[in-house]
Amino acid sequence: MKANKLFICNVDDIEEPGSRGFSIEIDEEIIEGFVVLKDGQFFAYRNSCPHTGAPLDWVEHQFLDMDGALIQCAVHDARFIIDDGKCIAGPCAGDSLQKLEIIQQDKKLFMLDQKF
Ligand code: FES
Repeated sequence: MKANKLFICNVDDIEEPGSRGFSIEIDEEIIEGFVVLKDGQFFAYRNSCPHTGAPLDWVEHQFLDMDGALIQCAVHDARFIIDDGKCIAGPCAGDSLQKLEIIQQDKKLFMLDQKF
């Protein structure tokens, strides 16, 4: 397995708790995603709500609820666990966000594009 590293942002670009959206082109496909920082750990998901496929954010880089405790979809208010992307409230309860593999190196975050 070979994994390409694609730059997302610098670690310091995200406050804790906080989030940041990104857009990366892979093989002419645009991947829209976002990263969340919680308890010193980063989590990344596609910016596509399992309810309708709509982007979750209504303000740029804002993917968390008021408490910074859950991911929130701004369209119909679904809430997701930050650690695993599972929806625990809203119209898509029981579904999950699609996780993206990321790594941190030298204060930078990269998404892994895994090729087999
Ligand atoms: S589009 Fe996200 S809850 Fe409806």
